[in-house]
Amino acid sequence: MVRIRFFRALQDEAFACVEAMPGTLLLDVARSHDLPLHWRCGQGTCGTCRILLEHTQQPALFTPCARERNVLKRFGFAASTEPVWPDRPDTWRLACHVSVGSEDMDIRLPEA
Ligand code: FES
Repeated sequence: MVRIRFFRALQDEAFACVEAMPGTLLLDVARSHDLPLHWRCGQGTCGTCRILLEHTQQPALFTPCARERNVLKRFGFAASTEPVWPDRPDTWRLACHVSVGSEDMDIRLPEA
């Protein structure tokens, strides 16, 4: 099991800490624990479920799928048009596209 802490924007204390199996979508983790991660489509089209995430393997690079990349670009949360993005704590992701990895994670929700 992997430990996942959830933070609200601009707050230093986690409001929730849960455990999840690697491979589980972060959106499903939030939903199963009734956490206030806003979402609408669940399919990577609305951009509502955007999050920032931090883990011990950062900084690194990753290749977002075309849908995640296009949605984040369309809503102004990604500046890069490159296929490979930096995996950093300030890189927006979609919780319906990110799975729990093998390392503990910190998830930061956007400002309401
Ligand atoms: S819930 Fe719509 S993009 Fe994730």
